[in-house]
Amino acid sequence: MENAGVSVSVRGLRKNFGSQCVLAGLDLEIRPGEVFVLMGPSGAGKSVVLRHLIGLEEPDAGEVRVGDHPVDDSIRDRFRMAMVFQSGGLLNSLTVAENVGLYLAEHRLVSRADRERLVREKLDLVGLDESVGLKLPSELSGGMRKRVAIARALTMDPQLILFDEPTSELDPLAAATVGGEIVALNRRLGVTTVVVTHDRHLAFGVGQRIGFLAEGRLLALGTPAEIRASADPLVHQFLTSAFTPPSP
Ligand SMILES: Nc1ncnc2c1ncn2[C@@H]1O[C@H](COP(=O)(O)OP(=O)(O)OP(=O)(O)O)[C@@H](O)[C@H]1O
Ligand SMILES: [Mg+2]
Repeated sequence: MENAGVSVSVRGLRKNFGSQCVLAGLDLEIRPGEVFVLMGPSGAGKSVVLRHLIGLEEPDAGEVRVGDHPVDDSIRDRFRMAMVFQSGGLLNSLTVAENVGLYLAEHRLVSRADRERLVREKLDLVGLDESVGLKLPSELSGGMRKRVAIARALTMDPQLILFDEPTSELDPLAAATVGGEIVALNRRLGVTTVVVTHDRHLAFGVGQRIGFLAEGRLLALGTPAEIRASADPLVHQFLTSAFTPPSP
């Protein structure tokens, strides 16, 4: 295993589902240790891209590499990669602490005492008190459940962490807290961080670089300032659209 912060490279990635072309030759380079945001409208294929990065989906054409190794069956033996799923993916029959320690327990990585210590440490990293560990996921707010899901991902000591819509279902304050935690963890741990979202606030709040995915490829790529200045009409529309009530 190598040290924290791996690069990700996507070249000419094509993916169809039936006759629907979702990715039409996507190119993407993610730098070691950066916070990269993949932004785009609903249905653009953002989650499909994430699934390719951890080998849950096979390209029809093109190539995905992590740390300069092709993503294949062995990639997860080579690099520690964690995904925080949109739904959080917590098991309701287990306590919060058991959920956070699940990966460590399943892989029998450490002694029970060390596992309990690591669980406390990861809960603390995401700003949750030790007492939360005794609760069931169903007893927590949506924002707390997201943090628990992040804590569980951190037990893998990941070199690459992927967040799928980390602020969906959260109120603006909770969303800002989760966004702040994503950045703080990136700074503290140096882990390459990919955030997939259609939340404009989150994208501009956390992204060092942002790629705008639509029509199967990146319509814009750059710093938040460069994305704001993009001349692409779809990007412009996405960034400026607001609800306007119909006139009476
Ligand atoms: N396993 C699958 N089988 C068939 N179609 C799929 C599959 N996975 C994704 N799709 C289709 O691919 C398109 C992109 O889906 P994806 O979930 O990646 O969108 P998204 O950008 O993540 O959207 P959202 O912001 O709503 O989460 C959608 O039209 C979806 O229906
Ligand atoms: Mg999605």
